[in-house]
Amino acid sequence: MTAVHPAALIERKRDGGALTAEELQAFFQAFMRGDVADYQMSAMLMAVFFRGLSPSELQTMTRCIIDSGERLDFSAGSAPAVDKHSTGGVGDKVSLVLAPLLAEFGLRVPMMSGRGLGHSGGTLDKLEAIPGFRTDIELDEFRATVDELGCAMIGQTGQITPLDGRLYALRDVTGTVESVALISASIVSKKVAEGISGLVLDVKVGRGAFMTDVAAARDLAQTMVELAESLGLHASALLTAMDEPLGCMVGNALEVREAVECLRGGGPPDLREVTLDLCVEAAVVGGVASDANAVRSDLSGLLDSGSALDRFARLIERQGGDPRVADDLDLLPSAPVVREFVAAADGLITSLDARQIGMASVQLGAGRMTVDDEIDPAVGFDVRCRIGESVQRGQPLVGVHAATDVSAAQALDRLDAAIEIGESATAPMPLVLERVRTRSRP
Ligand code: URA
Repeated sequence: MTAVHPAALIERKRDGGALTAEELQAFFQAFMRGDVADYQMSAMLMAVFFRGLSPSELQTMTRCIIDSGERLDFSAGSAPAVDKHSTGGVGDKVSLVLAPLLAEFGLRVPMMSGRGLGHSGGTLDKLEAIPGFRTDIELDEFRATVDELGCAMIGQTGQITPLDGRLYALRDVTGTVESVALISASIVSKKVAEGISGLVLDVKVGRGAFMTDVAAARDLAQTMVELAESLGLHASALLTAMDEPLGCMVGNALEVREAVECLRGGGPPDLREVTLDLCVEAAVVGGVASDANAVRSDLSGLLDSGSALDRFARLIERQGGDPRVADDLDLLPSAPVVREFVAAADGLITSLDARQIGMASVQLGAGRMTVDDEIDPAVGFDVRCRIGESVQRGQPLVGVHAATDVSAAQALDRLDAAIEIGESATAPMPLVLERVRTRSRP
């Protein structure tokens, strides 16, 4: 085994030199054993933040993260196993629709998701707004649920990619989260360890996204797609818009409500469009989409017939939740205080700032600023306008669902800063800006 001289490796990366696979493996293994200290790993992460990683360094680091824990394997089985990962946005409830829809279509979706942090929401928090729903089931139960229903939805367990959990905890407090190399290694390692064969990445772009400009989002998407393919997955990414929230609802139970409406064949058109586009990509990377138009039309049919909703109800029941939610949305938690934010003037909506709306929802209690914060599943916003829409003074624009009058009043103030009305609005960006595949796949 290569002897580890942590300071020497850190200095080499700091000065722009290359690290061999053996050196990186020895460094990460020593960290997991406790022989490289948190402060040395933090320094290495900062060196990587500034210097980046070559493709082979990135692949080695990702393999080290995968090898730090258990690896699932869904290769045996009749249907390809696929998953979708979003880089995070506001009102992004796509996973709740996509997993049962793809399962109904005939793919398997062993989905591992995260919690909301900062201004963006998390799938686990949304699922847990359904009374009784458990996202902490054991891996054996997870596998059995995928075998039975074609999908299962759980959180990260300590058994899978434990190195990622430890690195992320350091990155979170050392200013090293926003690195294309580190984000790519973190996301792709978890997806490879999930044992899937196809991965779709939803890389959000805009004010409410990690990546605010298209070039940066494209770079992240390309890096992740190439990394995933180099590790044996079929992968594809869509760059999707995140200037304004996706759909209308922001907040956990409210987003479940909207996801169920989409699974009933209704709901807001942008949510349906983005979900269908990501599902078509999933069918492509799953190797079952020779004709994308036909796949899209089949998927639409599964929404309109309600059969994807039946699958979601069975999933809810299998994971301990109340499946009657699929028929009766009033069984979801609801907030005691509802107020309206109204337009202060006639004009066009020129800004509906997703980041500020996300932050306002966190302040209401829908999200958390630190991992230990409790969330309130009932609170959030019902945004009833879009960028470019013409509105009249006094028109209700957003429903504020709050726990108290005080928090409702604070949210109304924050919406005042997030929503602008003017005389002319620039056209909103297209919902799907680009598709990114590797150079070997058209
Ligand atoms: N999400 C992840 O899982 N990892 C990152 O590094 C960033 C976002």
